[in-house]
Amino acid sequence: MDGRSLYFPQMNNQHNLVLLGFMGTGKSAAGRKLAALTCAPLLDMDAEVERRAGKSIARIFEEDGEAVFRRMEAELAAEWGAQKAGAIIVCGGGVVLNEENLRQLSRHGKLVCLTARPEVIIRRVAGHDERPLLQGGRLEQQVATLLEERKEAYERIPIQVDTSDLDMDSLSARLIRVWRHASS
Ligand code: S3P
Repeated sequence: MDGRSLYFPQMNNQHNLVLLGFMGTGKSAAGRKLAALTCAPLLDMDAEVERRAGKSIARIFEEDGEAVFRRMEAELAAEWGAQKAGAIIVCGGGVVLNEENLRQLSRHGKLVCLTARPEVIIRRVAGHDERPLLQGGRLEQQVATLLEERKEAYERIPIQVDTSDLDMDSLSARLIRVWRHASS
């Protein structure tokens, strides 16, 4: 059976599903899986920032500074938030830090915050050296500090899904339910 038709035969003109959450909570993997299952367009903020800048996020931070990166993120939040495209929007972990981003993304989108226990986050991000905020220190400490600093910003999002113990099929099913509910 074609798994796609099971979920969303028609996603045009439906709410977007906006995946937020700390690094390593599974936003990108979930976004890819959902796009494959539903055929919905996948909009990945980090990838689009890199495409527009013509360089990696690590290089944007290094050469232009974090503020430039955050401005680019905010531009995308406004642009994508304005379109009711039935798209899956995968946000970078810091998108929640700017409330205006959330306001824009919720215009036509259902916001979901993915979470995970710190030890799970550390396991998932370890060995990936592309994240500028996790460079040059003890990973455990950096994750703990950032999580603490951002705790309230993540907790403000009403729908939270803890991905620590969920396999990808269960996570996708959960997210599709949330999304379908928003679009009905
Ligand atoms: C960031 C998270 C990263 C990326 C950038 C900054 C953050 O995205 O946007 O390195 O501030 O948490 P992921 O959450 O996809 O790793």
